[in-house]
Amino acid sequence: MSEDTNIDKKAKDLLAKMTLPEKIGQMVQIAHSSDTIPEDLKQRLREGGIGSMLNVTVPEINSEIQRIAVRESRLGIPLIMGRDVIHGYRTIFPIPLAQAATWDPQLAKECARAAAREAAAAGFQWTFAPMMDIARDPRWGRIAESFGEDPFLASRFAAAIVRGFQGDDLSAPDAIAACAKHFAGYGAAEGGRDYDTANIPENLLRDVYLPPFKAAVDAKVATVMTAFNEINGVPSTGNARILRSILREEWGFCGFVVSDWRATAEMIDHGFCEDMKDAAKKALIAGVDMEMQSSAYRDHLLELIEEGVISVKLLDDAVTRILRIKFQLGLFDRKPIYSAKPPETPEYENIDLAKKAALKSVVLLKNQNKTLPLSRKIRSIAVMGPLADDSYEVLGTWNRDGRVEDTVTPLTAIRNYLGASAQIHYLAGLESSRSANTSQFAPALEKARQSEAVLFFAGEESILSGEAHSRAHLNLPGAQDALIAEISKSGKPLVLVILAGRPLTIGDISEKADAVLYAWHPGTMCGPALADLIFGIEAPSGKLPVTFPKTEGQIPVYYAHKNTGRPPDKVSLTMMDSIPLRAQQSSLGDAARYLDIGYKPLYPFGYGLSYTTFIYANIRISPDKIRSGEGFKASVEVTNAGEMEAEEVVQLYVRDRTASLTRPVKELKGFERIRLKPKETKNVSFDLSAGAMGFHNSAMEYIVEPGKFDLWIGGDSHADLMAEFQIIE
Ligand code: BGC
Repeated sequence: MSEDTNIDKKAKDLLAKMTLPEKIGQMVQIAHSSDTIPEDLKQRLREGGIGSMLNVTVPEINSEIQRIAVRESRLGIPLIMGRDVIHGYRTIFPIPLAQAATWDPQLAKECARAAAREAAAAGFQWTFAPMMDIARDPRWGRIAESFGEDPFLASRFAAAIVRGFQGDDLSAPDAIAACAKHFAGYGAAEGGRDYDTANIPENLLRDVYLPPFKAAVDAKVATVMTAFNEINGVPSTGNARILRSILREEWGFCGFVVSDWRATAEMIDHGFCEDMKDAAKKALIAGVDMEMQSSAYRDHLLELIEEGVISVKLLDDAVTRILRIKFQLGLFDRKPIYSAKPPETPEYENIDLAKKAALKSVVLLKNQNKTLPLSRKIRSIAVMGPLADDSYEVLGTWNRDGRVEDTVTPLTAIRNYLGASAQIHYLAGLESSRSANTSQFAPALEKARQSEAVLFFAGEESILSGEAHSRAHLNLPGAQDALIAEISKSGKPLVLVILAGRPLTIGDISEKADAVLYAWHPGTMCGPALADLIFGIEAPSGKLPVTFPKTEGQIPVYYAHKNTGRPPDKVSLTMMDSIPLRAQQSSLGDAARYLDIGYKPLYPFGYGLSYTTFIYANIRISPDKIRSGEGFKASVEVTNAGEMEAEEVVQLYVRDRTASLTRPVKELKGFERIRLKPKETKNVSFDLSAGAMGFHNSAMEYIVEPGKFDLWIGGDSHADLMAEFQIIE
């Protein structure tokens, strides 16, 4: 008997023994974070009335709850214990957006593996991660949890992280089930306001928003979570088109679907369900197997079955899917399941990995006059800014189980690095990132004057990004800009390090700085990673997984946009500053752009500098005429023309010049991280296929059309080294 048939049989046999209330119990998930277990909860567990719990972080309570379920309920079915292990459990890795900036899915997989080991020891068998919503609006706070704006990049990370959490064998004691969330289109919320409506034509949904989920399903993700938002009028939690037709029937997903937190009940506020009973009916019919936190299933499923509105078959299918995952996870055999013991300290290997991931996620945005790296012989340095010595804010959103005492802050790392060899003048200058108090400005300027260089750690506190934390203004909060401007008067080399959960509009303030490192929220090993980069032990190699806007009014701005009939790069544009007063009516250059800021972003997708220079040459495509269904190769020579060994992310973009539905001006189709010694040249070759150059037409068929394509290879999405190929009939 194959493993799958064996599991099917076990699930079927168990199902046959279950009463209707026990079946419904498996579909109920509730949160419990207190350090006692009330009698009514014990009773529900004994009756088999709960299938899963989340946030049970007190180890003794976690163990006792499992013990009651396994030992004191009639059928002894273990619970699947869930937790939001988003970017680490005890060891906190960089936020997902920062992990995407590494362009190193293998590294992200290792981080997920490490997080799974820690979380499994703490009594969890399920994480609500990875979040794979495509995010093209930095006002949306949850962009921090995403892999950015691009479906190709996000798909690679989604698959790798699923494999990292789940390991090679889901039943291994250190494997946890992953959850592909939020299905679907959650990142397309109008105006970047969390939870807001998404209007997405289905072919766009399929080309842009769904590919990471498909990749997760192909990587055998165990569970999928619905999204809070509606798409085109139908809340995701009641959306049979996406949950049944696409996810199950088309893609063959055979794990189970959980609602987001109270998302079933929220369908009433959406104006889609009349009451909780209606919500239970619509969610189950749509394909939600387990309800998180609200009680529509618990209170109404039995009644709906007795009335014949819901068939027992529909219920049995949902319960079978949940039981199958419980068997696959080996929950019935994890011995004993009731002995949660979280790690007392983070393991050395995890700390090491956290440093590596943080180091590779940092993006060098500006480095005028080679300000960075700073000389290791520096004799005095000013370390400033509200985030220079903050062990909490650098851990980022969704840090639930990490501890501040594990964090090594930038100030500590710089002190460790320089020892007694240099004077370190530390002054935060502002109490927090939001402070507007200018009382420390004068002493800050004085300290800058006494130093050979200034490092300023600015940014956003972790609570300013994440769920429900959208911002309309994306500037550095508080008086940070003003303090940086004041310090710049010292004339000393000024290095800005930005720690934030999203792209910030740092264009103007960057002008005052000589160098800018964008470090996101890097996690436990923030300081050591940054110190290595600042002093040139390693060169920065992160690349932006999302376009940086110049200002909020430019959003949405993303590289894979369409061209319009009036592309701005083809005409000469008059900008607002040079329009004469009382100007005659004229077009000023008819094009898709803004009069005041033009059309270019602050930094393009894929952008990131190094301490060395990489030269791209000899792009080749072979063969350059291919039939759909055939493969081909594209290659380029990359040379490290500088003096320092460094890593580069080589990126490949394609444009379908003409199609029956217009295509984006560029689409990422390949990338590879390479390491080059000074003066070394490497030939980087990509295996491509004509089949990957297609799109969904208005009949929702995936098609590859014959025609001419442009192909670029370079260090960011503005790469100009180009070749062409053709797909022939
Ligand atoms: C979030 C989910 C999360 C869940 C459980 C919800 O508010 O949207 O992403 O997994 O809470 O904590």
